[in-house]
Amino acid sequence: MNELRFPEHFLWGAATAAYQIEGAAHDDGRGPSIWDTFSRTPGKVYQGHTGDVACDHYHRYADDVALMAELGLRAYRFSVAWPRIQPDGTGPANPRGLDFYDRLTDTLLARGIDPIVTLYHWDLPQTLGDRGGWTNRDTAEHFATYATAVYARLGDRVDVWTTLNEPWCSAYLGYGNGVHAPGEQDPAAAFTAVHHLLLGHGLATRALRAAGARSVGITLNPADVRPADPQSAADAAAVRLVDGLHNRIFLDPLLAGGYPDDVREHVARIVEPTFIRDGDEKVIAAPIDLLGINYYQPSYVAGRPDGAGGGGAYPGTEGAVQFLPAAGPLTDMGWMIEPAGLTRLLERIATDYPGVPLLITENGAAFPDKPGADSPDGPGQVIDTDRIAYLDGHLRAAHEAISRGVDLRGYLVWSFLDNFEWAEGYRKRFGIVHVDYLTQRRTPKASARWYQEVISRNGL
Ligand code: NOJ
Repeated sequence: MNELRFPEHFLWGAATAAYQIEGAAHDDGRGPSIWDTFSRTPGKVYQGHTGDVACDHYHRYADDVALMAELGLRAYRFSVAWPRIQPDGTGPANPRGLDFYDRLTDTLLARGIDPIVTLYHWDLPQTLGDRGGWTNRDTAEHFATYATAVYARLGDRVDVWTTLNEPWCSAYLGYGNGVHAPGEQDPAAAFTAVHHLLLGHGLATRALRAAGARSVGITLNPADVRPADPQSAADAAAVRLVDGLHNRIFLDPLLAGGYPDDVREHVARIVEPTFIRDGDEKVIAAPIDLLGINYYQPSYVAGRPDGAGGGGAYPGTEGAVQFLPAAGPLTDMGWMIEPAGLTRLLERIATDYPGVPLLITENGAAFPDKPGADSPDGPGQVIDTDRIAYLDGHLRAAHEAISRGVDLRGYLVWSFLDNFEWAEGYRKRFGIVHVDYLTQRRTPKASARWYQEVISRNGL
């Protein structure tokens, strides 16, 4: 294959999230989050796994950062755990919680790695959860206060700030189908949460800017929605519906001034949207400097005028839409491997929402890696050629988007370490570094060495 070079200053890195790696659930005044509660609820997380210990990164961060440096990472995206900063979600900041991120930031900078902070990666303080979580408008206000507290401590050293990670998941999986914390199954709550998450983003963006932040953005998981049959009008209508509820419901208020009419009408059939108040859309539309894109796989949908479709995670699509089962080569999550979907998605966003630089804040794959004495790859080794192929394909797809004019600034692999994969617990491994959860030993997989090479050559 041809050699590919990425633009100068292309940002190469890796991503993680607090609840998935930190452990230390009770250290230094951390309060409980909705994920502590949810993971303890029988039947919600695979084999009752929790984030109590996870990768123990809270205590091992210095060694982890040393390994990042060894691999040549230029950027590291981590999230701040709100319940470490405000154990009850409100009130004065807990200095010991901030100290951890302070140390982490300094350690990264000392190694020449740019910190990229996510302020909310799903671990809402339980006290706010008890008051309705993201269905309560106050949560959006509290989020802005919390963001300000983190900025006050780290803003002199962290340049890139993102507010939310994948609000789609927080709203639809958390409040719609109940697969994620807090596990509610209430269509009205899901749409209410969408709005309050966006409002929280807007209020936090405003607060961060007022405090002096120069680069503020948000990370979404926009979908590349495809028709099962490109000739079918019913499938085209299903694409439009899913695109509205997955993509435009977030992208339009963030980047085009407000909710699209078709989405508003759909939501109004489920819940009277009194939660959208005058002026909210203006707050949400505050300009951003960067849009984070998390991409894993495309979705193929068919329209079902007969009403027999299974629907998706989106309230009101039951019957009308059928999601096709994943086909072709799959990852251990059962997700499709289709790099072209990344090119299409990046181009579509760049075309429909021009002017915002894009950053791939997550891309990667789970595979059933097996190291250790009985490993076919030799003691302790993980030769994850399947992951290398996945990453290689998606980097080529990203490069293709750049060559078609997309302003893509960097790529952060998900994930630096194997970690707590939410409802799947520890059984799904996304890391380029293997974690032995019994010993906490880290072993770079073949993909980590491959990625190190990609970074050093700035290309493939
Ligand atoms: C998206 C989420 O942001 C991250 O937390 C998760 O582990 C990966 N996707 C893989 O599912």
